[in-house]
Amino acid sequence: MKVLVIGSGGREHALAWKLVQSAKVQTVYVAPGNGGTGSDPRLHNLAITDFQALADFVQKEKIALTVVGPETPLAAGVVDVFRERGLRIFGPTKAAAQLESSKAFAKEFMQRHKIPTAAYETFIDARAAHAYVDERGAPIVIKADGLAAGKGVVVATTLAQAHEAIDWMLQGNKLGVQHNEGGARVVIEEFLDGEEASFIVLCDGKNVLSLATSQDHKRLLDHDEGPNTGGMGAYSPAPVVTPNVHAKVMHEIILPTVHGMAKDDVPFTGFLYAGLMIDAQGKARTVEFNCRLGDPETQPIMMRLKSDLFDVLMHATEGTLDQIDLEWDRRIALGVVMAAEGYPLAPRKGDLIGGIPPESADAVVFHAGTTLIGKELRTSGGRVLCVTALGDSVKQAQHRAYEVLDGIHFDGAQFRRDIGHRAIKR
Ligand code: AMP
Ligand code: GLY
Repeated sequence: MKVLVIGSGGREHALAWKLVQSAKVQTVYVAPGNGGTGSDPRLHNLAITDFQALADFVQKEKIALTVVGPETPLAAGVVDVFRERGLRIFGPTKAAAQLESSKAFAKEFMQRHKIPTAAYETFIDARAAHAYVDERGAPIVIKADGLAAGKGVVVATTLAQAHEAIDWMLQGNKLGVQHNEGGARVVIEEFLDGEEASFIVLCDGKNVLSLATSQDHKRLLDHDEGPNTGGMGAYSPAPVVTPNVHAKVMHEIILPTVHGMAKDDVPFTGFLYAGLMIDAQGKARTVEFNCRLGDPETQPIMMRLKSDLFDVLMHATEGTLDQIDLEWDRRIALGVVMAAEGYPLAPRKGDLIGGIPPESADAVVFHAGTTLIGKELRTSGGRVLCVTALGDSVKQAQHRAYEVLDGIHFDGAQFRRDIGHRAIKR
């Protein structure tokens, strides 16, 4: 069988890497892919981004299954286009993708279906937003309503920071947010205290199958300092999600969401990612929904998945997820992101990358912002690589990942030295 993965990041490299291991899969196309998917002889990059042209290719090549990695094509309706043409694709429709693409939609949905989340208000008027912040006080969280690649959120610890964020988000567009209809809006939220975890499930519209848990590291610098990023490293499983917390999250968040979407006539198919904040009592609240897998969470999750991902996704697109279980490697997987100089605001491109070792049984370097120019591998985006390793403990996985990372070099590389710190402290 042939499979198509849409996207170009580390998440898509990990998906393609895993899918091509299936005995049933002969070729995986990645559109547009990156330097890593382009240099793996089992994978093929495809320089097509237009949805109709992609669907033409899928029809012509008789591709059995398409999987969508990032939120942008989902929010733009790639699933709707493929389905109209009778093509098998795994992901949410444009309407269902609003759970991620519109924070206002997601918050209103959660309130209506009583799904635990932070209290919030939505504003289009800057003056009203400023007044609200003055009334509520800091810490407080300011979010741009629209897709911002994880960067449109400011956790303001002072009122001054909160006011500044409102002005950025409503008056300029320095963050590159893709605004929803009606223009710039901000969501202002109650600050939630606790530990975050990524809770990702597969949905076929009615059945739900949870993936292994994971934890991301959103801040750029060690000790969770510096600006928010798309994610600087992740590991799986996340010990903060105890079996008890897991059961409660399924019962209070995931199932009500999937049932609520079905009831609202926007059945959710695809990967559903709940970003959780878990407080000291083990109570989980939803910080955000994503309508896709996490990046970099997918890289460690795929390293641990023993089941055949192609089979799993065929069930997911057939509506028969209730017929299968997933099998996981019991070891810990941990991935460290190497980002380009200037990330997250203005990543520099074009630096020469060297020292990437061939894949081994316990370490794989997944590519994101890389491109092959002749035989040379160069940086081409913010997050460049995710060095991912397996180990019997978080410490061992961490040690192995950094051992590999220390051999890799490109000018200006930024990475954290403390990925996994919360699990190691436990
Ligand atoms: P989001 O894009 O909504 O996931 O926000 C990015 C990051 O900002 C989250 O991963 C959290 O670390 C932080 N954050 C967002 N909302 C809140 C909140 N209400 N309370 C505390 N931290 C938050
Ligand atoms: N790593 C966070 C995300 O994918 O949204």
